[in-house]
Amino acid sequence: MSEETANSHPEITVREMGIDDIAPIFHLGEQLFSSELYPSLYRTWDEWEVSGAYNTDSDLCLVAEVDGRFAGFILGTIVEKKADKKFNVYSYIRWLGVSPDFHRLGIAGKLVDRFIERTIGQGAETVLMDTDPSNEAAINFFTSKGFKNPRQHVYLSLNLSEHEYYGKLLDYERDRAERIAGMLRRYRQ
Ligand SMILES: CC(C)(COP(=O)(O)OP(=O)(O)OC[C@H]1O[C@@H](n2cnc3c(N)ncnc32)[C@H](O)[C@@H]1OP(=O)(O)O)[C@@H](O)C(=O)NCCC(=O)NCCS
Repeated sequence: MSEETANSHPEITVREMGIDDIAPIFHLGEQLFSSELYPSLYRTWDEWEVSGAYNTDSDLCLVAEVDGRFAGFILGTIVEKKADKKFNVYSYIRWLGVSPDFHRLGIAGKLVDRFIERTIGQGAETVLMDTDPSNEAAINFFTSKGFKNPRQHVYLSLNLSEHEYYGKLLDYERDRAERIAGMLRRYRQ
């Protein structure tokens, strides 16, 4: 496991994520990506985001510690896209989070720096990130790191239970599941 330490006080260390970091990362994300603050981030944050990233991109999943205490994380990946017979390589910051106890100490900056250095080693020429348009802290942070060209992305949702056709299908499937569960209960008695 590689370790990179900054010469500042308090001591901020950035290292690769390990298996024991899965739970702390998940719980910090639950705290940061709340439904009230950032509904679009909240909807997609779950334990699979963390364990999946650890399984597929462990070298691009980093943890920051302050004086040995867990303080933040970055989960990223590399995306290759073929265009005009050439492969474009992007790195993508899926998730970045720093514990509120340690905000404005430069921790996110160090996590992003280490992440970018690693992805350059894998051929990345562009770094992508996205976030909720109301997330001013993140937008200011990434702008301060030189990220540009923001594009608004529109999220739409369809409440299936209110839809004329899908609502009926949903009721039918629920009834069916209940009937099967009832039959199994009777069969086991
Ligand atoms: C965005 C976030 C990662 C920044 O982490 P951080 O470690 O506090 O950031 P840094 O200390 O490296 O900040 C570097 C610079 O970014 C800008 N910045 C960071 N947080 C800011 C904020 N809340 N408001 C305005 N600017 C901010 C500032 O220019 C700052 O430099 P300064 O402190 O010298 O003014 C953190 O606020 C966070 O975890 N937010 C919730 C999760 C999230 O939104 N993640 C990103 C989307 S997945």
